[in-house]
Amino acid sequence: MLQFDVSNALPFLPKNWLSSRLDGLINAWNLLERGNGQGGEFTGWVHLPENYDPEELSRLLQTARIIRDQSQVLVVIGIGGSYLGARAVLELLTSPNYNLFCKDTPQIFFTGNTLSSDALNELLDYVRDKDFSVNMISKSGSTTESSIAFLLFRQLLEEKYGRAGARDRIFVTTDRHEGHLRALANQEGYATFSVPASIGGRYSVLTAAGLLPLAVAGLPVQELLDGAAEAMGYLRTPGQDNPAWQYAAARHALYESGKNIELLACYEPSFRFFGEWWKQLFGESEGKDGQGIFPASVEFTADLHSMGQYIQEGERDLFETVVRFAIPSSSCLLNPKPGDRSGLEYLRGKDLRFVNEQARRGTALAHADGGVPNLLLTAQERTAHWVGQLIYFFEYSCGLSGYLLGVNPFNQPGVEAYKKNMFALLGKPGYEERRKILDSRR
Ligand code: PA5
Repeated sequence: MLQFDVSNALPFLPKNWLSSRLDGLINAWNLLERGNGQGGEFTGWVHLPENYDPEELSRLLQTARIIRDQSQVLVVIGIGGSYLGARAVLELLTSPNYNLFCKDTPQIFFTGNTLSSDALNELLDYVRDKDFSVNMISKSGSTTESSIAFLLFRQLLEEKYGRAGARDRIFVTTDRHEGHLRALANQEGYATFSVPASIGGRYSVLTAAGLLPLAVAGLPVQELLDGAAEAMGYLRTPGQDNPAWQYAAARHALYESGKNIELLACYEPSFRFFGEWWKQLFGESEGKDGQGIFPASVEFTADLHSMGQYIQEGERDLFETVVRFAIPSSSCLLNPKPGDRSGLEYLRGKDLRFVNEQARRGTALAHADGGVPNLLLTAQERTAHWVGQLIYFFEYSCGLSGYLLGVNPFNQPGVEAYKKNMFALLGKPGYEERRKILDSRR
């Protein structure tokens, strides 16, 4: 079970930080469990880990094998919730350098998350002379960034392999019935997987949106689901001991006391994209109606040498949530020779995992002393089982937190504003009136 420790935040919290929020938490819990709160139609993820369709999973694993056998590279196209979860788990369970070290599995590149011609051309050039496949992921099937990337990579596949050959290399993950992409996939006969209508993008990492690329990388997706199912067992049980209730209550109390920014930190570089996934999860779920904690992430100890000064002594509107893996996957003994002038003689015989842990402890105490409350979440190991638990923990806490704040944690109306302007400026039919308004403002 994940361990949540609030002790380095207690000096900043009122005594009743948890008890005074129990009514709110019970209400939030009811809304999540019954799916009858705001956005309740998007709570399919609550039961997903134990409801996963075994036939779909077995087809997914079989498809992953086909992709592995026929590809040196898998190009995963998607943005936001159709991108960050897969990348987060891939890097956390392997390494940010997966593409350098993968041996029996294809390299995996993520695109469709940019409109940069430089970035797209770079990847198009890289795969041009390689055997590659494409997994296009878009729930709506109409997201501009992903659609443009899909157009370009589909054209390249058709140039290389012909239309029939391309068909065998395109794998589409989208809504079961709706959208342009579904229609195109049906027309062209592409293999498809679906994102359930009841699961929004940022909660979809445990659907095919995340699981297919992860299975291609050879990761044990069943263990990920089992870990999430285990977390589901203890996190859906109401009560003050529930770590998701404690996390939601602590961050809500800190927010009320003026801590507007939450820094998610970890001492493993492979966690970086998990932080990106988490930022979308909480930012898009809570940041609305003029409210919400601003989610940011840092990688320690690297960022202690860039952001450390600000965290220690800047504006006091921050709190930190540190994710810790208690048992590192590997060890590294330090053995400076006597007199080698490394200045590290005092570390002789120590393991680097011990050094990293003391850095974490020292930093937590320094930051708390400097006015930055610290929340600590401990997973035992950096394995699929524990990462599955972390995913479910943050998803469930996020649902609770949104309802505690009084917002709809499952919509993202604000994301449309830039799109409407961009479409108007690009001359998309239907946006003529907005175009006139924008032109008059220049
Ligand atoms: O959480 C969300 O719903 C969004 O971040 C979407 O995932 C993102 O905008 C991509 O949408 P789609 O999967 O429809 O292309």
